[in-house]
Amino acid sequence: MSGRVYKALVFAGCLAPLVWLMLRIGGVAQPGLGANPAEEIQDELGLWGLRLLLATLCVTPAARLLKKPRLYRFRRMLGLYAFFYCMLHPLAYFLLDLQLDFAHLGEDLLKRTFITVGIGALLLMIPLALTSTRGWQRRLGRRWNRLHRLIYPAAILACWHFYWQVKADTAEPLVYCGILALLLGLRFWWSRLGRQLLRGG
Ligand code: HEM
Repeated sequence: MSGRVYKALVFAGCLAPLVWLMLRIGGVAQPGLGANPAEEIQDELGLWGLRLLLATLCVTPAARLLKKPRLYRFRRMLGLYAFFYCMLHPLAYFLLDLQLDFAHLGEDLLKRTFITVGIGALLLMIPLALTSTRGWQRRLGRRWNRLHRLIYPAAILACWHFYWQVKADTAEPLVYCGILALLLGLRFWWSRLGRQLLRGG
């Protein structure tokens, strides 16, 4: 299969959760949205944002461990899709939960502090999405790599935001936190190994 076909498949795979959610909203697909549709829509979008953020972070370890540098070509698409879902998630919150009543936002921010952490994660992702093009990569040179390390604090804040908003069962957010810890640990270990090799030790 050609590279274009793989890219089209990844593109369709990333779009599928949104299409599925739309079908559920339209009552065409099951399960329905339950007793609190606004919350279900928000949660689904937030979960997919986080899953795709972690999938973006999986690309480098997968490419290195499997010795398949071609996997890097999917990184930008996954990252942009993560950003897309992470944008739709607060949009659903503003439209469906707050119903654009921004006076209520301040109250909610004080009551549900985890939202502030989510906002922090999203803000960190904005420069990454804006500079994701090849043109920006060329223009920024080595600074592009440094800037794109913002994905690590963004993912940490996103996991924290998820963990914090859970009331009782922390199992699911802990799985995401564990995956992130593994991915960050691997990168840390590789960078230490690289520095040791440079020092000749
Ligand atoms: C990187 C950005 C973000 C990610 C990855 C993210 C992810 C998540 C996840 C995974 C959940 C829990 C879903 C579940 O319980 O199944 C959640 C809940 C929530 N998030 Fe975010 N979030 C982000 C940013 C934001 C922002 C910017 C806001 C608001 C301005 C926000 C507002 C909320 C709210 C209100 C909930 C609780 C919804 C409920 O009542 O169940 N999030 N988020």
